[in-house]
Amino acid sequence: MIESETGARFLIRGGRSLSGKVRVSGAKNSVLKLMAACLLAPAAYTLSNVPDIQDVRTMAEVLQHLGAVVGFENGVMNVDTTRVASQTAPYELVQKMRASIQIMGPLVAHYGQARVAMPGGCNLGPRKIDIHLKGLTQLGAEITSNHGFIEVQAPRLRGTDILLEYPSVGATENLMMAAVLAEGETLIDNAAREPEIVDLSKFLVSMGADVEGAGTSTIRVRGVKELHGAEHAVIGDRIEAGTFLIAGAISGGQVEVEGISPRVLDLFLSKLRSVGVEVRENSHSIWACGDVERYQGTDIATLPYPGFATDLQAQTMALLSVAKGPSIVTENVFESRFVFVDELIRLGADIKVAGHHAVVNGGRRLTGTIVCCSDLRAGAALVLAGLAAEGVTEVREIYHVDRGYEDFEGKLVSLGADVRRVA
Ligand code: EPZ
Repeated sequence: MIESETGARFLIRGGRSLSGKVRVSGAKNSVLKLMAACLLAPAAYTLSNVPDIQDVRTMAEVLQHLGAVVGFENGVMNVDTTRVASQTAPYELVQKMRASIQIMGPLVAHYGQARVAMPGGCNLGPRKIDIHLKGLTQLGAEITSNHGFIEVQAPRLRGTDILLEYPSVGATENLMMAAVLAEGETLIDNAAREPEIVDLSKFLVSMGADVEGAGTSTIRVRGVKELHGAEHAVIGDRIEAGTFLIAGAISGGQVEVEGISPRVLDLFLSKLRSVGVEVRENSHSIWACGDVERYQGTDIATLPYPGFATDLQAQTMALLSVAKGPSIVTENVFESRFVFVDELIRLGADIKVAGHHAVVNGGRRLTGTIVCCSDLRAGAALVLAGLAAEGVTEVREIYHVDRGYEDFEGKLVSLGADVRRVA
């Protein structure tokens, strides 16, 4: 059940060691693009392992606004785009969720046009879409912007070689989806390599597209005339998996996450090990346990995949706050992803921010108080810190967490945490 956007908060009583097993849900950062890809052909699609999170419901609203029919029950989503009649995504939906811009590529590829409200800023800094637009222009689209909308027109896109100036995840996905119906061949160089891009590529191929190289820096797309409906199971959410592994580590317990390959978390797991967390793995699950007294600080620098995931930076900083010795955290992906540090400091962490570096002088005992989420990963990090803090921590504005974590408190309680949602 998704709470309204104001007032809902978590109450966490810290000091309990978590133990047990959780199955991760489908990846938010894959499913939102799979849903957008259903606009590439007027057909019926079935997605399974779909997480029941706010962003999925918002993307369903976007598709319904365009004329699609979306059914969603027990993790299975049926999308029917045969009656899509509009190609305009309104401000109130785009403003709610920046990922709405991922419909641009599919719409201009199949309908020859897209009209998307410019995404507002977000709590991670001004997030531009210049790389998306430059690539679409190279594919032959005309782009204008007025009245706060971006309009993309292209009777027919023509394949070409595109070199991304930065391996943007969203731009790689938008351009891959635009290229599958373009005339001729498209090469996307310096492409992002995230596992969610591989998941999208598999879905596109099952729809009849000709895509190779997803997961590497060079993606080759050969345009086809038309695509058809398909079925697909969403890949497990690696960021949710990392979040729960830290829940086990920070509470001095032992947690196993199922439904995820350790290969998509290689660098993160090696960093957990250098902190002193014991990590074991098999092909579809990962197990972590440790004694907080023995954790040592370590340095992390976020980078595009396979570098250390920026979406696990905040959660890891919570862990480093209780590990002994200094750690340097460098955020290279977003301009301002340290907003939550002040909240961690309120819990007793000793952190100094200088530009895109944060020096964490660990070894602190955290004590519970009221804190506020600034984005979904920061919210998760504050909950994790609350697990380790003495006394009660109240985490406010938790609608951020509900955007990307399915039944977050239910899963934590199943591991033995004392967490309550208070409306
Ligand atoms: C995706 O965002 C994820 N969101 C983010 O997860 C994730 O943090 C990010 O990739 C990096 O891994 C979804 O998949 C829905 P980017 P995206 O384009 O596509 C700059 C979460 O918590 N940039 O790789 O927006 C941009 O400003 C969210 O689940 C441009 O300058 O990420 C940012 O600094 C947060 N111009 C950097 O690149 C562009 O045209 C990374 O952005 C596009 C991006």
